[in-house]
Amino acid sequence: MTADIESIRRVGDKVEILDQRKLPDIVEWITCDTGAQVREAIATLAIRGAPAIGIAGLYGLWLEAARLTDQEQFLEKLQVSAQTLRNARPTAVNLAWAIDQAMNQIAGWTAAKAVDHLRDMADALKKRDEQDNRTMGEWGTRLFTGPVGILTHCNTGSLATAGFGTALGVIRSLHQKHWIREVFVDETRPLLQGSRLTAWELEHDGIPSRLVTDSMAGHLMASGQVDAVIVGADRIARNGDTANKIGTYSLAILAYYHHIPFYVAAPISTFDPATTHGDQIPIEQRNGDEVRTVLGKPIAPKAMPVYNPAFDVTPHSLITAIITERGIAQEPMEHALDTLWQKM
Ligand code: MRU
Repeated sequence: MTADIESIRRVGDKVEILDQRKLPDIVEWITCDTGAQVREAIATLAIRGAPAIGIAGLYGLWLEAARLTDQEQFLEKLQVSAQTLRNARPTAVNLAWAIDQAMNQIAGWTAAKAVDHLRDMADALKKRDEQDNRTMGEWGTRLFTGPVGILTHCNTGSLATAGFGTALGVIRSLHQKHWIREVFVDETRPLLQGSRLTAWELEHDGIPSRLVTDSMAGHLMASGQVDAVIVGADRIARNGDTANKIGTYSLAILAYYHHIPFYVAAPISTFDPATTHGDQIPIEQRNGDEVRTVLGKPIAPKAMPVYNPAFDVTPHSLITAIITERGIAQEPMEHALDTLWQKM
């Protein structure tokens, strides 16, 4: 059903990235030969979404490793590229997680062996991510008993992952059971991942949905049309505090006030036990032009100062459950997440 929506693919010794900045109008692939090109694609959001940038980072590392011919300084040079790729975006832990894991595995290896391993690792992560999302979707359906109206934020679908999606994966699984009455899609200012990307994916799958502006969420919940909110995550701290696209925290407070369950869906690779509380999560600050413009068109005075955090943190006390591929975590969240983390 979703096989033809892909965010990244390896074609021989190159990596192709679907340019999400141009969607939904233009479907265009960027061909990358170097880690620097992949880094640029991540930083400028040609590819975005926590799991997808983890996979892209790993492919970028492989491309860089393949370009290094100096066996003597192979690992030292690759470490520099690893650091650059890792820092392309600071909030989603999946990027650092994938790169650190790869660098640890190839420590002390020859260049030839490391290059092949990095390629295989990236291919395997991509395959596994989609499988995990389908499992996560199955787990998510257990929280429901029949048709529901769902509100979602940003894009958490095939475009943000290797396929199927996290929060959107749960929505897809609910749709397969005929349990989606309607999905309300926040447009997700400033970069409109909801209206440009999620709406595109939902339309592609024929899932009943309507687009709303971010400011309509309160009215929508008060009108009784939302049975649950489901969002993704960029980093989940040890206590369950969750960083996700800016605006998520406001939705969680609105859901709490209206007694609507608030669910986070994310792979276990988004869990960061080294970060104990949400206030330790680095929040990416982006260029003010993203707020001063819409799709390149000015909507504010050119010199207007801007505050543009790309993410916010929702405290675990506002989260009804966190859905992962290993099961569902509920309060006491820290204990439940730790149990899932240990489970293989
Ligand atoms: O800035 P973005 O578009 O990368 O932000 C994406 C999100 O916040 C997603 O909700 C999150 O990465 C989960 S994607 C499965």
